[in-house]
Amino acid sequence: MLKNKSLISVSDLDKGDIEDIFEKADYMYQNMNNMRQNEPMKLKILSTLFYEPSTRTRLSFESAMERLGGSVISMADSKTSSFSKGETLADTIRIVESYSDIIVIRHPLEGAALLASRFSSKPVINAGDGSGEHPTQTLVDLYTIKKELGDIENKEITIIGDLKYGRTVHSLLLALTRYHVKINLVSPANLKLPDYVYKEIKNKLDVNIIDDIEQSIKQSDVLYITRIQKERFTDKNEYYKLIGSYKITKKEVEKMKENSIIMHPLPRIDEIDVEVDFMKKAKYFKQASYGIPIRMALISMIAGD
Ligand code: NCD
Repeated sequence: MLKNKSLISVSDLDKGDIEDIFEKADYMYQNMNNMRQNEPMKLKILSTLFYEPSTRTRLSFESAMERLGGSVISMADSKTSSFSKGETLADTIRIVESYSDIIVIRHPLEGAALLASRFSSKPVINAGDGSGEHPTQTLVDLYTIKKELGDIENKEITIIGDLKYGRTVHSLLLALTRYHVKINLVSPANLKLPDYVYKEIKNKLDVNIIDDIEQSIKQSDVLYITRIQKERFTDKNEYYKLIGSYKITKKEVEKMKENSIIMHPLPRIDEIDVEVDFMKKAKYFKQASYGIPIRMALISMIAGD
C-alpha cells in the first residue's frame, strides 16, 4: 500500500499502515545482518538530501539501504551543493529524481518536503521539515513503545520540552490520535504546542497541559523528553533564557513507576542528566537503534519490487 508513495506527514499513514510497517520492521530486526546477501534493493539507489544537520536520521537511512543491498548517494551538506549557488529546491529535485529511486530530504523550511514531492516522480520521504514534521522518527518512537512496553494502547505518555518547535513532538502527537492514550504536555510557557497541532488532537486524545510534572512523572508509562530547538530561535537571547528550564535526573527517575520508560529523539543537550543513561528505564539509545529496522521496512515497502 505504501509502494511508490511519498511519506511527508504522519497523516499519510493510517493505523493499518503503521501496523504493516511494524510487522515488516520485526522481520528486518530479526534479519538485519543477513538481508544484504539477498539484496532485495539491488540496483536501487536512495538519495539523502540534508539541508540541516543530522546524525541518526541520515546515517540510519543510509545504513538501512546498505543493509538491503542497495546503494546510496548523499548530499550531506548544503554548503557543498549547488544550493549555496542559489539553486531552487524544485530544480534540485528535478535532477535528483533522475539520479535515484527514492529521495530522503531534511530541510529547515516547513513544507519543503511536500514541495519536493510535488516536483518528483520518485517517492520522497520527509526526514524533518523545519518545525513541521518528522514522520519516520515517529515510527521509530511508536515502535520503541511497542517493543519496550508490549503495546501502545492505554498508555500514559508525558511529553516534556520544546513543544512549539519540536517536529518529532508534532508528528508523534498526530500519530497518537490513532490510539487510545492519555497525554500530558509540559513545556516552558513560550514553547507550548502550536494551535494547529493542538486543534488536531484535542478532540481525539485525552490531552492535559500541565505545570506540575511531579504527578505525571509518577503515573506515566513513557516520559518523552526533547531538547530546546536552538536553531529555530530568531533571537538567541530568548533561547539562552530558557536553558536549564527542565531536567530529568536520577531523582525524578526513581519516582517513576515500574516498567515505565524514558525516551528522547536525541540529540540530548542537558535535559537528561548523563547519570540517567545507566538506569534501566533509559531507552533513548535503544530507541535510536530501532531506526534501522524501521527504515529498512519503509524503504523496502516504498521502493521495493
Ligand atoms: C530530531 C530532529 O531532527 O527533529 N532529531 C532526530 O531526528 N532524531 C530531534 C532534535 O533535533 O531535537
